[in-house]
Amino acid sequence: MHFSRSVPVLVFIAGAAVGALAQMPTYGLGRAPTEEEIRKWNNDVGVEGKELPPGSGTAKAGAAIYAQKCVKCHGATGREGPAHGTVAMVGEGALKGGDINPNKTIANYYAFATSLWDYINRAMPMFNEGSLSANEVYSLTALLLYWNRVIKEDTVLDAKTLPKIQMPNRNVFIPPWPPKYKAREKREYGLYP
Ligand code: HEC
Repeated sequence: MHFSRSVPVLVFIAGAAVGALAQMPTYGLGRAPTEEEIRKWNNDVGVEGKELPPGSGTAKAGAAIYAQKCVKCHGATGREGPAHGTVAMVGEGALKGGDINPNKTIANYYAFATSLWDYINRAMPMFNEGSLSANEVYSLTALLLYWNRVIKEDTVLDAKTLPKIQMPNRNVFIPPWPPKYKAREKREYGLYP
């Protein structure tokens, strides 16, 4: 049978690969990452927010941190900053069905509030990424969502409340899978209606 003949060949190739690896010279370069380094890099928060750490924050607390760590690049209201003031351009040029070139602001262009948390946590402040505490990220997320009129000024954000926020344009986005893969999409992401 064709199958039974091909199996020994596969085993042989795999064996050869392992053998070759074992014989590879070591160049004395690099080192294994420490547990602490892996923990720091492995910090992604998915759209469902399951990985969100303990901590909390409000827009009020966020305003003080923003003034210290974000204002020099993003401006006093978040409109003056890079990428056409994407941090807060509150509903202007909203992303409605059919818009070809919408303003990609937080309220328009983030389908999930958890993505904003993840982005700030991993990418900001630019040149000092990863320096913010969980409380600071919750507070800054709250401030930017408040400026984008998604939450109230006194809303407390934490691992429970943040994933429950419904972003205004949540349902304008087209799911990544064509309709015939709906079942798979639901299984893998559990998100789409
Ligand atoms: C040194 C300049 C600098 C500082 C400081 C800085 N940012 Fe940014 N930020 C940028 C740039 C540049 C971009 C655009 C990056 C891109 O488009 O790839 C950006 C993008 C962002 C975005 C994404 C906007 C969008 O439309 O998706 C958010 C949110 C954000 N910054 C938040 C913050 C917060 C919160 C702070 C303070 C902790 C901060 N930034 C500090 C330069 C900065």
